[in-house]
Amino acid sequence: MKGLILVGGYGTRLRPLTLTVPKPLVEFGNRPMILHQIEALASAGVTDIVLAVNYRPEVMVETLKKYEQEYGVSITFSVETEPLGTAGPLKLAEKVLKKDSSPFFVLNSDVICEYPFKVLADFHKAHGGKGTIVATKVDEPSKYGVIVHDIATPNLIDRFVEKPVEFVGNRINAGLYILSPEVIDMIDLKPTSIEKETFPVLVEQKQLYSFDLEGYWMDVGQPKDFLSGTVLYLNSLRKHNPQKLASGSNVIGNAIVDPSATIDPSAKIGPDVVIGANVTIGEGVRITRSVVLSNSTVKAHSLVKSTIVGWASTVGQWCRLEGVTVLGDDVEVKDEIYINGGKVLPHKSISSNVPAEAIIM
Ligand code: GDD
Ligand code: MG
Repeated sequence: MKGLILVGGYGTRLRPLTLTVPKPLVEFGNRPMILHQIEALASAGVTDIVLAVNYRPEVMVETLKKYEQEYGVSITFSVETEPLGTAGPLKLAEKVLKKDSSPFFVLNSDVICEYPFKVLADFHKAHGGKGTIVATKVDEPSKYGVIVHDIATPNLIDRFVEKPVEFVGNRINAGLYILSPEVIDMIDLKPTSIEKETFPVLVEQKQLYSFDLEGYWMDVGQPKDFLSGTVLYLNSLRKHNPQKLASGSNVIGNAIVDPSATIDPSAKIGPDVVIGANVTIGEGVRITRSVVLSNSTVKAHSLVKSTIVGWASTVGQWCRLEGVTVLGDDVEVKDEIYINGGKVLPHKSISSNVPAEAIIM
């Protein structure tokens, strides 16, 4: 089987992290986001994976080529000279996706869940239509593509509305599809939106079905959701892979701690924390619902809550970070500083408080 992952776009909503690293390579649960997907595709029997890229392909190639052997897949990079949207990249990768008559998977690179690729493929083959969209329910459907069902035929989609202004329903497009090769014939090689241009035509043809996802789901393309997604992911590890979670007298609830991290025994980590490689956590530090990316340091007695600490950053002593604060790469926060909802751009040094949401450049 074959799969294409949409890894374009600039990831602006995940700034300042994406100013340093392309969104698919930002570590989620201590591994590049996209590796979770590559691994799931490979274990469902996918052998050919196309990464549709339009932004900084070199970095992506360098980081991901090495995983071909580990996962036993061929990874090809399909590089756009202009952003082709969410459908154009399928046409550009036609050679690989149409190399046989089997259907192929398409994934948005920023969605996390327990990817049900095997059952999805069986479901798709069984209904015989040209496409299947994975669906999930959310409270705030206006940020997503909304699916409305045909009343007479269960799972047949009657309407697809991308980012609806008015409420049409709360079952949404989870950003995971399986499509039959003839769908590519409907797409031109130009910037095209699969959600706005291709899906409505498939709906019209009564060829588009939905498959209800079980378990958790999150689009982790913005800081607040990245943290909520981390909580869900850690919960799911607790259920299915508890050995991947940290344990010890200073760990509370669910947490992942890279083995190379150094944590002072008097620090308290968790619940819902991810500590990256070579991180140093000082005496009396308290961290909850946060992600500390590799090579960063949090000094003594600081409190880190609902925060993402970017790579190689330093948080001083007696600091308090909260309210979805995000530090970019190589940020320094001086001692005794309070940051509430600040987004701090890479290489900055913060020496005065940031009491309310702000971008520090
Ligand atoms: N190759 C390529 N080229 N990829 C692109 C481009 C492009 O020009 N533009 C966007 N992408 C990729 C993004 O990297 C992401 O993986 C995916 O396409 C979707 O783009 P987002 O920018 O994340 O879209 P969204 O989150 O607003 O909405 C989409 O995802 C929702 C689920 O999270 C839509 O598919 C919605 O219908 C869906 O509900
Ligand atoms: Mg998204």
